[in-house]
Amino acid sequence: MSQTLKAVRGTRDLLPPETELWNRIDRTARAVFARYNFGEIRTPIFEDTSLFARGVGEETDIVSKEMFTWEDRGRAQSERNQLLTLRPENTAGVVRAYIEHKLGESGQLQKLYYIGPQFRRERPQKGRFRQFYQIGAEVIGPPSAGSESPLRDAEVLEMLATFLDELGITGWTLHLNSVGSSADRARYNETLREALVPVVGQMCEDCQRRAVTNPLRVLDCKVPADQPIIETLPKIADALDEESKTHFAAVLAALDAAGVPYTRNDRLVRGLDYYTRTTFEFTHGGLGAQNALLGGGRYDGLSEALGGPRAPGIGFAMGEDRLVLTLLDQNAAQAQKVDAYIAPLGDPKDEAALARINAAALALARELRRGGLSIELGDGGFRLKKSFEMADKAARRIVILGEDEVRSGILTVKTFATGEQAKVPRAELTVYLAKPASA
Ligand code: HAM
Repeated sequence: MSQTLKAVRGTRDLLPPETELWNRIDRTARAVFARYNFGEIRTPIFEDTSLFARGVGEETDIVSKEMFTWEDRGRAQSERNQLLTLRPENTAGVVRAYIEHKLGESGQLQKLYYIGPQFRRERPQKGRFRQFYQIGAEVIGPPSAGSESPLRDAEVLEMLATFLDELGITGWTLHLNSVGSSADRARYNETLREALVPVVGQMCEDCQRRAVTNPLRVLDCKVPADQPIIETLPKIADALDEESKTHFAAVLAALDAAGVPYTRNDRLVRGLDYYTRTTFEFTHGGLGAQNALLGGGRYDGLSEALGGPRAPGIGFAMGEDRLVLTLLDQNAAQAQKVDAYIAPLGDPKDEAALARINAAALALARELRRGGLSIELGDGGFRLKKSFEMADKAARRIVILGEDEVRSGILTVKTFATGEQAKVPRAELTVYLAKPASA
């Protein structure tokens, strides 16, 4: 026997009824984004590897360890040996598109959202996959369009709070920090590097490496024994210049005015190199170790790093897999039942009669579906008991359709939640089935 094939490690199939929840999240995101005047952008799933190396940063875990990269086997000389990568995130792609299509020349802010798969070769665990899905958005434009304003940061954060509330996710926490300008960050990195010299020998292996390559990442360490040491390190808030401090204070003031709750977290540095000033994450306690529902921040120098014009921006990406997990934990994903199950009652031994009743059932299902109802259609060959069992799993009500019903035009309807049984004239059936079916 040949070996059965399975989805590749870290990838998975999404199946009903869970996909209905995914679709609900997509719909809610699109509806909320529309109210804030965002438009959708769709960028390619793979890009030139150098986009991520330059955009996200060579030293980051994402670029140095986690990308799915291959050398292209293109026939044309110009394509041969080109390094391509499945996108590990979408901000670099959006900014590339912003530059390529000269979107800044309109003089307007570009407010763009995206929904789609991303790929990182991480160790799979709860809430962490190698193919995962992000819903993200970016606000980017020339400074004259107000792209640097702290109001943009606060508006994006307020939108996220609104989205999570509308989705019904309760108990989230917004962690907020400022990592300053790129000069502030560089200065702070040096300060940290020096402060780490006498203590790093007592820290974990990862921190020993980070202390050399990217000291800022030490603040991200989760190893319990390292925490007391990290607490003694210089704080990034003390390294910010006046401009960054004023900017951050304005973001906080606007959030206070809008009533969006947040927690300041001066260890929130994020795993991508493009961030400047405001950085944030929304976490949820129910997720375990991978507790970030979403993350984002400002990236005022990214466009220039990719060879584009000056175009400050701010954005975020939500992990849709994690939104789904959280909602499933909150029991929000009750299997959706259809409005009614049509059970044709035929005589399995009389083929002509069976065909007749099945045909009549299809006509009835068509009429009800066209009336806006969701309908599951059974089969006249099933015994009544089997029809009831199947209907109970799939639908709120069962409609019995036998020869008598076809002749009289009066149908028998049972509502499972209440046990109520009724005789309903066909002309009134759509309205009857649309009524709530709860006890
Ligand atoms: P990120 O923090 O790398 O940021 O990812 C954002 C979110 O994607 C995370 O908070 C998490 O919910 C989800 N996520 C990341 N990796 C995985 C994974 N392996 N499995 C499941 N979910 C995952 C970014 O990607 C930035 N581009 C966000 C951004 C947009 N910053 C500015 N604009």
